[in-house]
Amino acid sequence: MIPFVDLKAQYATIKDEINVAIQGVLDSCQFTLGSEVAAFEQEFAAYCQSAHGVGVNTGTSALHLALLAAGVGPGDEVITVPFTFVATVAAIYYTGAKTVFVDIDPRSFTMDVNAIEAAVTKRTKAIIPVHLYGHPADMDPILEISRKHGLIVVEDAAQAHGAEYKGRRTGSMGDMACFSFYPGKNLGAYGEGGMVVTNSAEYNRTIRMLRDWGAEKKYQHVLKGYNYRMEGIQGAVLRVKLRHLEAWTKARRAAAARYDELLAGSRFVTPRAMPGTRHVYHVYAVRSAKRGELQAALQARDIQTGIHYPIPVHLLPAYSDLGYKAGQFPHSERAANEVLSLPLYAEIPDAHIKAVAAELTNSVAQLA
Ligand SMILES: Cc1ncc(COP(=O)(O)O)c(C=O)c1O
Repeated sequence: MIPFVDLKAQYATIKDEINVAIQGVLDSCQFTLGSEVAAFEQEFAAYCQSAHGVGVNTGTSALHLALLAAGVGPGDEVITVPFTFVATVAAIYYTGAKTVFVDIDPRSFTMDVNAIEAAVTKRTKAIIPVHLYGHPADMDPILEISRKHGLIVVEDAAQAHGAEYKGRRTGSMGDMACFSFYPGKNLGAYGEGGMVVTNSAEYNRTIRMLRDWGAEKKYQHVLKGYNYRMEGIQGAVLRVKLRHLEAWTKARRAAAARYDELLAGSRFVTPRAMPGTRHVYHVYAVRSAKRGELQAALQARDIQTGIHYPIPVHLLPAYSDLGYKAGQFPHSERAANEVLSLPLYAEIPDAHIKAVAAELTNSVAQLA
């Protein structure tokens, strides 16, 4: 069997460090927030070239609180892309604001910067570029448009730990950036986790309060807040894992380069990193009009693949109330029909990459 990801393979390489870190939390009994979370906040913010980090319980909560801190609420509009995980849009919905979609650029799978201005209205308050698959969105034009219209930029960096755009890390460019530490992410907790990073002392202060019942000090509730705290064990695990992240990112990039090499000249459209970016390959997605047949052929050979994501959010039943119809975002819709994510993780054996590439090439030849 060739798995899509193998979390056990990674745990085996860091078992001793992780076990010591978890034991430390058990000994201290700092199960929620505490010194390990505080240290991880500082270390991860520094890794993102940003001043502050606020640890929370999920990436979705990070997005929710970033939008609230930006003052987004009922009557406001937030611009994002439909080709993303549903959480981006759910977080906007939680604030009471309305989601306004713009299509993606089909080469990078990130926001089409030429489509943004037409979507800006008097009600637009914020914009959420999604660094999908670990590839940064084209931030310079996004920041320029947001400055021109007075919009707040919240990066959805849930899939893009350590990705870079013109030498800047994801998390350092927008007003705020939100990360997920879901276990399968490039930096994954042993449970759930998320973080907002920001250079703004004001956003930092507000989000710190919002994640912990809106309290400035215990029982002094200044804001209507939430129970979105990060757990102590996750902080301790993530601190250990952060020390390995650069090596894992290098390994992911090397695995992606192997796929590129082995699939060169085949009928697949392989992912493309735009000039000046460092793609961190959370997902390595090829495109094919025969995606369904290919996935079935690989499955028959015990090769696991994924689809990120089969239905763009504007066509999901849950968000039909936004009033969008099929055909409105053709690049997102086509990508949703064509993308196929191949097995890729830092520890993937080269033999697996070769077997996947060979099987794909073989299956596509048979389907032709
Ligand atoms: C693009 C994107 N945004 C937001 C999220 C939400 O993160 P979480 O699952 O930690 O709530 C995810 C991850 O699942 C994601 O991939």
